[in-house]
Amino acid sequence: MIRYLSKASTKTLRGTALLRLDFNAPDGWRIEAALPTVKFLLRYADKIVILSHRGRPKGYDKELSLEKDALQFKRMLGKKERDKVIVLENLRFLAGESKNDVRFAKKLASLGDYYVNDAFAVSHRANASVAAIAKFLPAYAGFGLENEIKNLTDVMQKPRRPLIVILGGVKISDKLGVVSYFKKKAAFFLVGGALANTLLFSRGINVGDSLREKNSSREVRVLAKSRKIILPSDFRWNGRKIFDIGPRSEQEFKQYIAGAGTIIWNGPMGVFEKKEFSNGTKAVWKAILANRKAKIVVGGGETISALKRFKIYDLRFKNRRNVFISTGGGAMLEFLAGKKLPGIIALNKK
Ligand code: ADP
Ligand code: 3PG
Ligand code: MG
Repeated sequence: MIRYLSKASTKTLRGTALLRLDFNAPDGWRIEAALPTVKFLLRYADKIVILSHRGRPKGYDKELSLEKDALQFKRMLGKKERDKVIVLENLRFLAGESKNDVRFAKKLASLGDYYVNDAFAVSHRANASVAAIAKFLPAYAGFGLENEIKNLTDVMQKPRRPLIVILGGVKISDKLGVVSYFKKKAAFFLVGGALANTLLFSRGINVGDSLREKNSSREVRVLAKSRKIILPSDFRWNGRKIFDIGPRSEQEFKQYIAGAGTIIWNGPMGVFEKKEFSNGTKAVWKAILANRKAKIVVGGGETISALKRFKIYDLRFKNRRNVFISTGGGAMLEFLAGKKLPGIIALNKK
């Protein structure tokens, strides 16, 4: 049984809370997502110690310090609240974190009275502050983590049909687990980004010098043949490289999206970082928002950064209860592939 913070007796929330968050996003949107849990804990706890990480350092690395994140985070809090919060430096500066070292976890645990995980995005990592720590003290799933579990489980177990899965981004090998989980459940997979290049190539279509995965596995070649896989039919080129899906593909994808009962989306349709190649991703997001009946789940580090950039991201806060934005990148992909995440398993206690 997972203990949810939302169900905890507030009496048990006094003392010092150890709160695991994920600050590992370029523009701070994961910090914002954690605010409800932080604000709630501030009502009962005397102190909150925040545990987090950035990047994959080997030892101390000034570039990956959490100092700026700590300041940004504290600016989001009131003056009195600020004094109750301590942000620890990037835990991955210490080797014990990534090794899920039990002694290190025990030391961390000794800093507080109870533990809350509100870092879904790193819950697929067996790290000391995510997994091992939960052995040593009462452990809860924060509001963010609870929402992730509920919403993702929902679309996995009882999606309204037809279910459409939209995939983009770079590596098809990262996303095969999701394809495999939804192979029977999904009506169609709409595939864009460099991911599509790999499949197009496998179908014998000329992709020039576009980014694709070379030496793709048998699984990928089989997938390329599936009729459920819908690939773009035109492109926006940057020299000899495909950088975005084209206008006709946008229209075709839009048709599928309009008829969906459930939509799951991970991965941009093109190199959205360049304005000229952001149109496919923007068009997909607009088409998704235009479907007011469907249950919608969107996630992925770059995908969410893209939506933030388009400034239509905040629509989710306005009357759009059917839209769930996951904070997970790799974590969302693993969850949607049906894997059990170490950070969630660790919260399962009798
Ligand atoms: P997410 O973080 O949302 O899961 P990925 O990490 O899989 O997404 O991929 C995001 C990256 O994919 C973006 O930086 C984008 O520039 C890149 N990308 C998308 N389409 C292409 C393409 N056709 N060629 C090269 N890179 C692409
Ligand atoms: C992420 O950004 O997806 C998480 O913070 C996990 O980071 P990691 O892939 O370096 O473990
Ligand atoms: Mg990414």
